[in-house]
Amino acid sequence: MKLPGMVDVHVHLRVPGGEHKEDFRTGSAAALAGGITTVLAMPNTFPPIVTIDQLSVAQETANRQSLCDVFMYAGASAEHLNELPRLGEQAPALKLYMDQTYGPLKTNGLENLLRVFESWPKNKVICIHAEQESIAAALGLLNAAPRPIHFCHVSRKAEIELIAAAKRQGLPVTCEVTPHHLFLTEQDATRLGRLGDMRPTLAEQRDVDALWEHINTTIDCIATDHAPHTLQEKQGENPPPGVPGLESSLPLMLTAASQGRLSYERLVEMMHFTPRRIFSLPAQPETWVEIDPDSRYEFPDHPLYTKCGWTPFAGLAMQGRIRQVVLRGKTVVKDGVVLSDVNQD
Ligand code: DOR
Ligand code: ZN
Ligand code: ZN
Ligand code: ZN
Repeated sequence: MKLPGMVDVHVHLRVPGGEHKEDFRTGSAAALAGGITTVLAMPNTFPPIVTIDQLSVAQETANRQSLCDVFMYAGASAEHLNELPRLGEQAPALKLYMDQTYGPLKTNGLENLLRVFESWPKNKVICIHAEQESIAAALGLLNAAPRPIHFCHVSRKAEIELIAAAKRQGLPVTCEVTPHHLFLTEQDATRLGRLGDMRPTLAEQRDVDALWEHINTTIDCIATDHAPHTLQEKQGENPPPGVPGLESSLPLMLTAASQGRLSYERLVEMMHFTPRRIFSLPAQPETWVEIDPDSRYEFPDHPLYTKCGWTPFAGLAMQGRIRQVVLRGKTVVKDGVVLSDVNQD
């Protein structure tokens, strides 16, 4: 079965400042191994990407070192609100943190939030880390400053229902859900211990059920929130939240499709067409993923290409294997091996 190149609008590639966890080369290799040919990389780096100079440097580094197409987000910071219009000329989208998570970015205060909503170009989305009540707050801001917004990693029943209601009212709202919130619950979090901690945390079965009930309607995109941290960090003193996902995302969604939980067409809509449309991403000519929908296997406990080297999906029964990935006419993955090379610096 031939699918288009998958798009992941939410990954953390850790450049600059976290290159021991991941870098553009290893992260983009993991993407390709997972059938993903375009990724959007988050700005919660060290330092965070909140100025035009930082964005330019990060994007140029990404262009030089990546094996797939990588687009850098700009980050919203109260100290650099003036830069937003210029950042908005370069970045495909803005990331706004309304809740505390890994890294230094969080925007507090109603005035700052309003400024962000007003300053970012109206033809580009603001992607928001908003959990629980913060989703209602973001929707409330749309009254004063109508503009397209996109909710990251929606994970709770009440959240997806609030977003469904907002869509029914015609508000310019889209959202993404991660594979880990679709396939794991808080019971898995207990089983996985520190490896099972991420933001938002894993939820109850009723939340997971609610997400699946909205899979054909409210959910626009599947995005991994690929958040690599080393095993040592995860098992150490102050374990950072986050799990890797680039190499498991398409296999998991193919598994769900093989079980009839969604159609292959719907999978392609959420992992290719809709993300491309929401973020106005360029088409990739002669790019496709050849999959074998019947092949069964166990997901390995060490994914090959992410630098972090572990996965919360170790040992999971999968159906649907990536046979080949072709990017712009060139075979870049063959039977699980990334063949591609770039001029590294
Ligand atoms: O679990 C998470 N990890 N959630 C986030 O929002 C950030 C991410 C990270 O950067 O590690
Ligand atoms: Zn987030
Ligand atoms: Zn994230
Ligand atoms: Zn092992």
